[in-house]
Amino acid sequence: MASPALLKPFTLKDITLRNRVAVPPMCQYIATDGMPNDGHHVHYGALSRGGAGVVVVEATAVAPEGRITPGCLGLWNDEQKEAFIPVVKAIKDGGAVPGIQIAHAGRKASANIPWEGDDHIPESDPRSWQTIAPSAIAFGAHLPRTPKAMTTDDIATVKQQFADAARRALEAGFEWIELHFAHGYLAQSFFSEYTNQRTDAYGGSLENRCRFLIETLAEVKKVWPEHLPLTARFGVIEFDGRDEETFANSLYLIKRLKKEGLDLLSVSMGFTIPDVHIPWGPGFMAPYAERVRKEAGIPVTTAWGFEVPAVAEQAVAEERLDLVSVGRAHLANPHWTYAAAKALRADRAAWVLPPSYARWLERYSLGQF
Ligand SMILES: Cc1cc2nc3c(=O)[nH]c(=O)nc-3n(C[C@H](O)[C@H](O)[C@H](O)COP(=O)(O)O)c2cc1C
Repeated sequence: MASPALLKPFTLKDITLRNRVAVPPMCQYIATDGMPNDGHHVHYGALSRGGAGVVVVEATAVAPEGRITPGCLGLWNDEQKEAFIPVVKAIKDGGAVPGIQIAHAGRKASANIPWEGDDHIPESDPRSWQTIAPSAIAFGAHLPRTPKAMTTDDIATVKQQFADAARRALEAGFEWIELHFAHGYLAQSFFSEYTNQRTDAYGGSLENRCRFLIETLAEVKKVWPEHLPLTARFGVIEFDGRDEETFANSLYLIKRLKKEGLDLLSVSMGFTIPDVHIPWGPGFMAPYAERVRKEAGIPVTTAWGFEVPAVAEQAVAEERLDLVSVGRAHLANPHWTYAAAKALRADRAAWVLPPSYARWLERYSLGQF
């Protein structure tokens, strides 16, 4: 029997996770009008019972036009907040810390759900809506719609929407918040020169391109309590051949966010432009996350290819990551943490199964009933 690093607790602020496994946000596209429903309740409850340390609820829009698709969750009103309460309870009852990612999809909004096209809903379709972004530049490829360039009033509105959504998340019982600053959505597109060609205080210099992200975090911090983790997801590189330059700029932003109160970064890619060459492979973002951890001095997680328990264990044991985010493998098996514990030959105490499962699985493993 062993004591894998992956299964050791992790404390951030006043919150202790039972292990180093995070379920990263994964959109389910099953909401109507942003409302959580029974499907979310079952899905997130099952993931929590499966043993992860923190379950981060999927990208949840801070405004209707911030949804990626009509099936995305929202927290722009109190009805949605009330509907989240049983989802949060299901996560807590399962033993994981309840987290949520709050988001604005910017120019990538108003899209069809993935299995119905993944492309922009035609403007002639009444289900579509006007998208917004720092500049009126379309993503292209399957998302050709040109967004409206935001006014400074629009910027102030969205920052407030993030703060209001964070307050509602807190009131619903979430104990961990992640600001979605990644994946080519609104915040990432303020940071990137590809998408931000503004000439005011929110564009141009690196300092100006960081401003929306820093101010949004600062607004959220006003409503999010000091004792709970305030985290973000950000794309530190684009795989566009300019990664060292982009990474250096990202490091500048991350240090500024840390100063404003960021407690942990989920390190990801930018996905700002189509047609980049991403070197997919097991844990391929870990070297970038490790650099952020060392160079910005902030706890990190990253996802992308940690489904093999030994790969996840190594990343934590070698202190490259604080948490390992395991996404699709949790869709395949909500009990991924239990499976990892067995694969790593962990002590029985680290199995984190509900007793009504554990008793029978322990015997089953002995070939007896
Ligand atoms: C169905 C699905 C939905 C996703 N939705 C989100 C999301 O809401 N927010 C986000 O930041 N990433 C999202 N992602 C990316 C995942 O969080 C994760 O980074 C990705 O699946 C890679 O990790 P994996 O190799 O462990 O699956 C999604 C991925 C999938 C498969």
